[in-house]
Amino acid sequence: MRETDWYKKMSFYQIWIRSFKDGNGDGIGDLYGVYEKLPYIRSLGVDGIWFSPIYPSPNADYGYDISDYKDIHPDYGDLDLFTKVLDRAHELGLKVIMDLVVNHTSDEHPWFQESRKGRDNPYSDYYIWRDKPNNWASLFEGEAWEYDPERGQYYLHIFAKKQPDLNMDNPKVREEVKEILRFWLDLGVDGFREDVINFISKEEGLPDGLFFLPAARGMSHYKDGPHIHEYMAEFREVCREYDCIQIGEGPMTTVRSALKYLSGPGKSLDMMFSFDHMMADCLYTEYLHRPFRLRKLKRAFSKWQKALDGRAWNALYLENHDHPRVISRYGDGRHGSLRRIPLFWKESGKMLAVSYLFQQGTPFIYQGQEIGMLNIRLNSIEQYADVSSRNNYYRYHVKDSIKKRLKRIHISSRDSSRTPVQWSDERHAGFTEGEPWFYVNNNYHTINVADEENDPGSILNFYRKCLELRKHSRTLIYGSYREYFPKDKRIYLYERRLGKMRYLIICSFVRRPVRVRLPEAYQNRRGRLLLCNYPKTVKKEELNLYAPEGDSVKELLVSKIADHGYFRPYEARVYAFSSK
Ligand code: GLC
Ligand code: CA
Repeated sequence: MRETDWYKKMSFYQIWIRSFKDGNGDGIGDLYGVYEKLPYIRSLGVDGIWFSPIYPSPNADYGYDISDYKDIHPDYGDLDLFTKVLDRAHELGLKVIMDLVVNHTSDEHPWFQESRKGRDNPYSDYYIWRDKPNNWASLFEGEAWEYDPERGQYYLHIFAKKQPDLNMDNPKVREEVKEILRFWLDLGVDGFREDVINFISKEEGLPDGLFFLPAARGMSHYKDGPHIHEYMAEFREVCREYDCIQIGEGPMTTVRSALKYLSGPGKSLDMMFSFDHMMADCLYTEYLHRPFRLRKLKRAFSKWQKALDGRAWNALYLENHDHPRVISRYGDGRHGSLRRIPLFWKESGKMLAVSYLFQQGTPFIYQGQEIGMLNIRLNSIEQYADVSSRNNYYRYHVKDSIKKRLKRIHISSRDSSRTPVQWSDERHAGFTEGEPWFYVNNNYHTINVADEENDPGSILNFYRKCLELRKHSRTLIYGSYREYFPKDKRIYLYERRLGKMRYLIICSFVRRPVRVRLPEAYQNRRGRLLLCNYPKTVKKEELNLYAPEGDSVKELLVSKIADHGYFRPYEARVYAFSSK
């Protein structure tokens, strides 16, 4: 069995189905909607889809609490419809990967229903039961232990109460996991994104944890646990019978521990989603939020790029169903209010695409990211659906005013990336003909797919250009990575290099013009400008727009901004150089 590497050239689109597209008018996104939009997805230039969970689930954590691993949630369709989607995707040249969530199940899963009945049934050891809880905290909901009166014991839940942790030390549980893998692989899927996979092996005896972040108390005893690599090897063996890929989600993982999954003889994953760059605004939980810092972001990017080069392969992403919208975090949306579309919405949206799509790795684009969707602003905590947002609201900073606490939710809630995709400026943004299950962001008159399709300068068409450029450049796919001026607080500048080819990628993260220095090796050399998020020339009248705060730049001539080393607000450029 060979090691596959087709994923290196690819890019993926992530679907969080409930809000993707409703095909039957009940207000909930579904596989009919996905089927209808497959050509759209293909048109972006991606080569694969990752489905966040589409299995039966009571939705305590919107699909990440699974009650049947081998079926489709009736809200979304059934296995026949799934097969139809899968076949059509394959015809269009799209691979399909599924979410594998085996750290925990739903408490409504039949295994748990059996397990809670007593200590002597076939499922009694499928979960982690104790007479006395330890001091671990749940990442979502208070303490990590919940008393079950039926069994007369406590069960462990690292996430919500309705997500009991499986006991992976039980070989029967691991056999179940392998059966799930086989079930979907036999149906024809191309791989898995493995949810919080570095948490599945818990330290023996479950010792008390130390306090460092309230919600993470105990984490050092379940992250990269003692048997993790044995278990991962068992799952890998099954996957290697098929031509498929495995991508792990690695919350809080470090480069060092990630490399143990990603390289060497014990390799058990092809890629891993790390969280380091998501700490650029410390937005892990509503507990910690700090203003965005570019240097932090760059440090995280470069750390992973350098450490994995030649040894392993990166999974690149900025947005997913767990993170608020990236323009609202790292782009122009971080200034000002959510009531308005930020002035440099488009420019910063495109710049963020450039900032990560050309790094070494396989890019993932989350639904709606490609049109520049923004965070939503709801008026009360009751309107939020996400279990972790609600709990964090009641758990942290409780002495602050309601207004202040709500503002934190506006910045950080996972629900901001879970609002319905804005397809058009019709009713409910064209997401459904019924009543949508969740709030549609009311900026859909401006931000929607249909309008962006018709605008050659849209964020949507810019994503297409970026993916097209990446696809046709071996240097951008395989080349080495080097960052210049890591201390610069405004500019992110990196190089990709392969043989004689070099690409220079330059991104400004600020809303005013800045002068950009080129690295010495590039000075006085002519490069070809392959991509820029601004039109070639700028009209004089537009200058005010580029200097909204009225600083000195107003006096600068247009030509100076464009040609003399000045970058306009959030400008991004990609240059190619080839040496003889
Ligand atoms: C992962 C998922 C997240 C989920 C959690 C528990 O982090 O991405 O959505 O809530 O695991 O399954
Ligand atoms: Ca539906």
